[in-house]
Amino acid sequence: MSIHISAKPGEIAADLLLPGDPLRAKFIAETFFESPKLVNEIRGMYCFTGSYRGKPISVMGSGMGQPSLSIYVNELFRDYNVQRVIRVGSCGSIQPKVKVRDLILAAGACSTGNMNRRRFQGMDFAPVSDFGLLRQAHDLATAGSTPVHVGNVLATDSFYEPDADGWKMWATYQVLAIEMESAELLTLAAQFDRRALSILTVSDSLVDPSTDALQDRERGFRAMAELALNTLAF
Ligand code: HPA
Repeated sequence: MSIHISAKPGEIAADLLLPGDPLRAKFIAETFFESPKLVNEIRGMYCFTGSYRGKPISVMGSGMGQPSLSIYVNELFRDYNVQRVIRVGSCGSIQPKVKVRDLILAAGACSTGNMNRRRFQGMDFAPVSDFGLLRQAHDLATAGSTPVHVGNVLATDSFYEPDADGWKMWATYQVLAIEMESAELLTLAAQFDRRALSILTVSDSLVDPSTDALQDRERGFRAMAELALNTLAF
């Protein structure tokens, strides 16, 4: 039991999938887990524990944005001793070569937020994914047919940016896509000496807003969840 999670000690597995949406956590547990058990529903932020290919696994929603994710991941690392976390999220492409439906493995994450500026007293920290998880996910992903990109992403604090062209500066530095959570996840993994990776499906494109946003989100999400589960199954 922690402040925001009611699971009993031992009820959350060492390996955990972290979608933003708690209903996606429920979907993953019901679709892929053997004997899923609901272990948290405080604030509707479902956490389920079960097994996948015979190994214990949990899945929990993080909510949207870095402050929400930070609350849950701090407690998962500190109070539940979670060791490996894979975020499974969506993002908006800011590169012409990155198309709706493609997969991104975030090697690193920038941020427009203030959390790391406060943590590091105005200095910079470069949050990176765990290389072992990244390599494993890449090996599995490249065996499939969905294009996969590896590189930097940007965790922004505002989904509705007042400056509609603000992303262009990041694009010139080869950042692949915008989402809202990865930098804090990867920073917390470093702080607690745990392993983390962020896998993202491209749900929309800021480069070409006329392209249809991902309609069959569920299919893309299902494939990404399976990739994350298989990455952790090794
Ligand atoms: N911006 C921020 N977060 C996102 C986006 C976006 O365009 N698409 C999916 N998550």
